[in-house]
Amino acid sequence: MDTPTESTTRVSRRALLATGGAVGAALAVAACGGSDSGASSQSAAPASSPGSASSPGSASSPGSAGEVLAPVDQVPVGGGAVFDGPKVVVTQPEAGTIKGFSAVCPHQGCLVSGVTDNEILCPCHGSLFSAQDGSVLQGPATTGLAEVAVSVEGDSVILA
Ligand code: FES
Repeated sequence: MDTPTESTTRVSRRALLATGGAVGAALAVAACGGSDSGASSQSAAPASSPGSASSPGSASSPGSAGEVLAPVDQVPVGGGAVFDGPKVVVTQPEAGTIKGFSAVCPHQGCLVSGVTDNEILCPCHGSLFSAQDGSVLQGPATTGLAEVAVSVEGDSVILA
């Protein structure tokens, strides 16, 4: 059946490209009848080895300062948006307060998957982090998500 709805969620170009790439890769695998069933958008293999000194941190924040992440209205109160270009999760724990954190789980380096009820979820092993300060709400992660400086400029959330 056709999907008449075009309610595509607007995400940054990078995230869209990444999603499109994942879909394209999945289609390519399907078209080839590949046996690699492990390919999914959740693969999120760590770009850098987890726990290494080169993981996202305050010194080498992901992305470039001034990079537009998303329109503010794409970050719901109590929710958030995850970007896998600059690997950042943006949250709005309360109306008008926008926060940014590394989207790389400190447990084993998976990308967090989303934000619900002010909780950031890592899908790999179920860690939950606070959307207010990135702290651990539920393990196995033992350390929180590193804060990433973001700001609102006009109607957009940008990397600060
Ligand atoms: Fe996130 Fe294990 S990698 S909970």
